Amino acid sequence: MFGPVLALLLTAGLCCGPPGSEAAPSRHLSLNYRPVIGILAQENHPRDPSPHGTSYIAASYVKYIESAGARVVPIRINRTEAEYEKLFNSINGLLLPGGDVDIQSSLFTQAAKIFYKLVLKANDAGDFFPLWGTCQGLQQLTVLTANKFLLTNTHTASVALPLAFTPAAQSSRLFKHFPKNLLASLSQENITANFHRWSLSLQNFSSDAALKGFYKILSTNTDGKIEFISTMEAYRYPIYAVQWHPEKTPFEWIDKPGMVHSSNAVQVSFHTASFFVSEARKNQHKFSSPEEEDNALIYNYDAHYKKKSFYFVQAYYFD
Ligand SMILES: *[C@@H]1O[C@H](CO)[C@@H](O)[C@H](O)[C@H]1NC(C)=O
Ligand SMILES: *[C@@H]1O[C@H](CO)[C@@H](O)[C@H](O)[C@H]1NC(C)=O
Ligand SMILES: *[C@@H]1O[C@H](CO)[C@@H](O)[C@H](O)[C@H]1NC(C)=O
Repeated sequence: MFGPVLALLLTAGLCCGPPGSEAAPSRHLSLNYRPVIGILAQENHPRDPSPHGTSYIAASYVKYIESAGARVVPIRINRTEAEYEKLFNSINGLLLPGGDVDIQSSLFTQAAKIFYKLVLKANDAGDFFPLWGTCQGLQQLTVLTANKFLLTNTHTASVALPLAFTPAAQSSRLFKHFPKNLLASLSQENITANFHRWSLSLQNFSSDAALKGFYKILSTNTDGKIEFISTMEAYRYPIYAVQWHPEKTPFEWIDKPGMVHSSNAVQVSFHTASFFVSEARKNQHKFSSPEEEDNALIYNYDAHYKKKSFYFVQAYYFD
């Protein structure tokens, strides 16, 4: 099934011109080798309360970003727009993680919306700023871009799938520099961890002009009935999103179908993080002082061991 597209992907790396000319503004003269990525917190799941705080960030996202050479700043929910804007101008990229909040009315969504607007505005003005969404993060981006909820339920709550690449994947910014053997693994082996009940169907994507004009689909998957978007990148912005969970593979240990810890799966995870951090190195935002940076970093918080009580091995909590 994936033969022809895979062949295209495999040859794509061997030819072709300079990277990313279609990508939005990239007037970055020198790279920033001390990038800081913001990760957005979210309300605790009602079935997973914590004595340590009312909102959380799963530690796997922090480790994932750190593994690729960046530091992490937690972005707490329920802050003022002015605070978010200040933080935006201090960090070099933003990750919207997976989770389980209402992506139309939560405090997570309110913050994501403010940052999304800032990301578009900055990039439009030539200030290159990357945004990555994973699982709920992808779903949140669809709501922000379409300005409506277009998701549908799929049977994908606990399954590992291979990616069905589209022909566009070969020239995508995200995949074109991936090692060829990993693209082959991704298309042939069940190594992407899917833990979602909602998906953006190809049908709803294709019939929504705002989404279709904004995102290039790089891979799809199906639950047997509904074909849904599994990887996408924006045409004109450094915005990337995966419905699967690259961070779980090396850093989460819940014992469920869909969790994969193979060498190829772990390498795929690293290459997605490495790609995103490379994008963040093109951004020059800075905290106004070293002290302010120190006080914002995740190192000021403790990761709490959850003993596999829920989906996450460790999490950071905030009030
Ligand atoms: C959000 O912050 C306000 C104060 O700024 C507070 O009154 C409110 O309880 C907070 N809401 C939540 C859900 O934390
Ligand atoms: C399309 O989106 C609507 C919500 O607007 C949803 O009810 C419907 O199930 C979706 N259909 C498909 C095929 O994804
Ligand atoms: C592997 O992926 C296929 C879809 O290509 C799916 O039907 C199957 O359930 C997956 N197997 C496992 C063990 O996850």
